[in-house]
Amino acid sequence: MTETHRLLIALLSIGLYLLWVAVLFFKHKKQTSYAVTGEETLVVYASQTGTAEKIARAKAAALSQQEQTSVVSMASLKLNTLSSVSKVIFVVSTYGEGEPPDAGRTFSKALKKASSNQSDYLSHLSFEVVGLGDKQYAAFCQFAVTLFDNISALGARALSPLTTLDSGKGEHLSLLGALPQDEQHPTHAFTLKNRVQLNEVKSASGEVSNHPSNHSESKASTSPGLFGLSLNVDHSNQTQELHEQWEAGDVLEVLIPQQAGEPIVSRSYTIASVPQEHDVKLVVRQLAKDNGQLGIGSGLLTRSLPLSQSVQAYIRKNTSAIIADTMCPLLLIAAGSGIAGVRAQLAKRALLENAGPVWIFFGERNPAQDDVLDKTLSPFQNSDCIFKKSVIFSRQENGGYVQQRLVEQRDEIKSFLGDTGQVYVCGHFEGMGQGVDKALRSILEEQAYNVLADEGRYHRDLY
Ligand SMILES: Cc1cc2nc3c(=O)[nH]c(=O)nc-3n(C[C@H](O)[C@H](O)[C@H](O)COP(=O)(O)OP(=O)(O)OC[C@H]3O[C@@H](n4cnc5c(N)ncnc54)[C@H](O)[C@@H]3O)c2cc1C
Ligand SMILES: Cc1cc2nc3c(=O)[nH]c(=O)nc-3n(C[C@H](O)[C@H](O)[C@H](O)COP(=O)(O)O)c2cc1C
Repeated sequence: MTETHRLLIALLSIGLYLLWVAVLFFKHKKQTSYAVTGEETLVVYASQTGTAEKIARAKAAALSQQEQTSVVSMASLKLNTLSSVSKVIFVVSTYGEGEPPDAGRTFSKALKKASSNQSDYLSHLSFEVVGLGDKQYAAFCQFAVTLFDNISALGARALSPLTTLDSGKGEHLSLLGALPQDEQHPTHAFTLKNRVQLNEVKSASGEVSNHPSNHSESKASTSPGLFGLSLNVDHSNQTQELHEQWEAGDVLEVLIPQQAGEPIVSRSYTIASVPQEHDVKLVVRQLAKDNGQLGIGSGLLTRSLPLSQSVQAYIRKNTSAIIADTMCPLLLIAAGSGIAGVRAQLAKRALLENAGPVWIFFGERNPAQDDVLDKTLSPFQNSDCIFKKSVIFSRQENGGYVQQRLVEQRDEIKSFLGDTGQVYVCGHFEGMGQGVDKALRSILEEQAYNVLADEGRYHRDLY
């Protein structure tokens, strides 16, 4: 072989290598960002629990008669994509305390940075923003407000004033009517098959009861009742379809019967089981107001709904809580009723031949009453995929909250998660969700925390 041959072979190898790198680069780019295909209206959603996504799809369906539309999650939208479109409709909810949903974090940061320069970068663009929120939160529709202001600051033209909808009052429901038939939520009758109280409530005499008849009596000194429910749907063809649609992470939306003429009210409950178990299982905390009156949703499910009677409900996809990768290390974190989500995620892995390791962190109040972890996780509490269970009680000597336990085990958590591990947190946002978020930021440090969130490996089912 001559020197020229060797040179040619070397150049060819380098060329092939560069081609391969380019193929990988464009493949990755295609997977992680949305590419514009031509003259189209983009309908962009940022949704934590799926409502804004549904509205975006309904809007696109209504528009599709007149114009070409594409629906895209804000998670896969780059700011420079907007330089190639002329019209965009945003449908966004607000999460945390006036923050974007997880899927909107990266885009929102990029937009904020760009808008601080007050350029006319988006002067070719016309836009609309529909904000979804709840007036029970102080920062009502705050992310929609910020988005509207930042897009305007870049010179884009608003087609209409900002629309804000209070989903707590059902103001968004009329928009869902335009959804294509196969995306509507058909409700089904879910029959209550079984209900057990998971925590034991001790009376002043020390007697153990798991059916407290007078809630206000037990309220001061004990934890409110935590109930496990099994509901089943009729064995019809529709049921089959329902089972196919439901995954660990999804939510049961229960419609609460109201007096005639009053608007329908619904309450969300994380499904605690997987379709292989047939029943839809829930874990519901019984809530009471100061006058002893029970919350309308939790009161119905934990007390007033008799066995063998049914409620109307539908299963709602909760895409941000669905963990497709079953091999990666998985940190499951919950307190109280959040154990529902942990049970479903564990069950999904426990039923597989080979699944990645699961480390469960669970917090409750009192070990004498609330030692509910194994009872709730049954029959998966001894599964091979469980790497460790870390339980902490807040009302025990030297006890504390789940976020403290996380920080105590920071080094082990870091090495458990590695570069591919995922985190799922379920339960109340205030206190637990916020505390866990702070703990994770401190354990992983800012850069690794951002990578975890931006790569969609941080799943939060918080309420
Ligand atoms: C995605 C998601 C998943 C969820 N998953 C679960 C789950 O798995 N398990 C679970 O238990 N919960 C879950 N929830 C919470 C659940 O949807 C309900 O919010 C919860 O059950 C309370 O609803 P309620 O109708 O019983 O109470 P409501 O009647 O709405 O009252 C709630 C509380 O607000 C206060 N309150 C309301 N009105 C008044 C008033 N007039 N005066 C004074 N105080 C008042 C009281 O403290 C009361 O207990 C989830 C929520 C979301 C968004
Ligand atoms: C943990 C949590 C925090 C929320 N924070 C806010 C808020 O700060 N401001 C607001 O207007 N709505 C807030 N909401 C209400 C949601 O925006 C509202 O329920 C919306 O319909 C959810 O839409 P999605 O399903 O598309 O995420 C919050 C909801 C949850 C569960």
